Amino acid sequence: MQSWIPFIPESASTESSKVDALYFYLSGVTVFFTLLIAGVIILFVVRYRRRTPFEVPRPIAGSHTLETLWSVIPFVIAMSIFAWGASLYFHQFRPPNNAVEVYVVAKQWMWKFQHATGQREINELHVPVGQKVKLIMASEDVIHDFFVPAFRVKNDVVPGKYTTLWFEATKPGTYHLFCAEYCGMNHSQMVGSIVVMNPTEFNNWLSGNVNQQSAASSGQQLYQTLGCASCHGNNGEGGRGPALLGVFNSNVQLATGQTIRADEGYLRESILNPQAKIVNGFGPIMPTFQGVVNEEQNVQLIAYIKSLGTQAAGAAGAPGAQGSPKPPVREPTK
Ligand code: CUA
Repeated sequence: MQSWIPFIPESASTESSKVDALYFYLSGVTVFFTLLIAGVIILFVVRYRRRTPFEVPRPIAGSHTLETLWSVIPFVIAMSIFAWGASLYFHQFRPPNNAVEVYVVAKQWMWKFQHATGQREINELHVPVGQKVKLIMASEDVIHDFFVPAFRVKNDVVPGKYTTLWFEATKPGTYHLFCAEYCGMNHSQMVGSIVVMNPTEFNNWLSGNVNQQSAASSGQQLYQTLGCASCHGNNGEGGRGPALLGVFNSNVQLATGQTIRADEGYLRESILNPQAKIVNGFGPIMPTFQGVVNEEQNVQLIAYIKSLGTQAAGAAGAPGAQGSPKPPVREPTK
């Protein structure tokens, strides 16, 4: 443990050097202009001080050159900060397609994780070094905020929707995880750690926890016990309700004529508020599962629906397989 406070937190992800570079640029610009302005003030105070009691200053009529310069230079600097910041923001908030997915559920006052392979953890997340990890985050109660300073990543975890975050750790070690949104009495204790391991160590860790059910198979059980199968078919092939095979990430035509991409957010909404977006050709007959399934179970149901998607694409087990086929066109049922 170091006894001094570091100037910047440890740098342990592919993102952190990029964020630091922008931060140093901002600090550099700030320090440069602070020194320049303070220096010029001191210089002018000395140089143009009143030397005799009745001294009258020489009149000046303005300077177009100066005015152009002090408009154009700050404009270029401000725009460079904007362009750099925006590109970094887009990079951070668009998770790459080849990332492994981890589900995060935040609640007062803990972090729950579930790996795609089923392993569950509380307040601790194990990840391999050099692997892109995408977090799909939901909250059971209030707004929390997932913050790992060493990775320079941070995003709100908001009730009622999914938010995402991604990172690629570059250095094995244990890093602080904070909740960075005041969320009630024990907010300050809503902390945890991200354990970054070498790939072989990580695989050992994973296989040491294999007897846990995968999110998708928990979802499949829920699918049966909640009676989803009676409308969506035993294996998601459809019936009174739309088919779920291959629906994930496909474009769904709604009764309103609108087309929507069936991402995690849409699936979640369709479970909790089925009337919000009715699929074209189907009636508004599905009951809400609000209050019946919690965020964790929701995540499992969605993992199951996703697994149907990859099977239909003929690429079983391929993580994050894209471009699943459209669900079969169905005649309206009367
Ligand atoms: Cu959760 Cu603060």
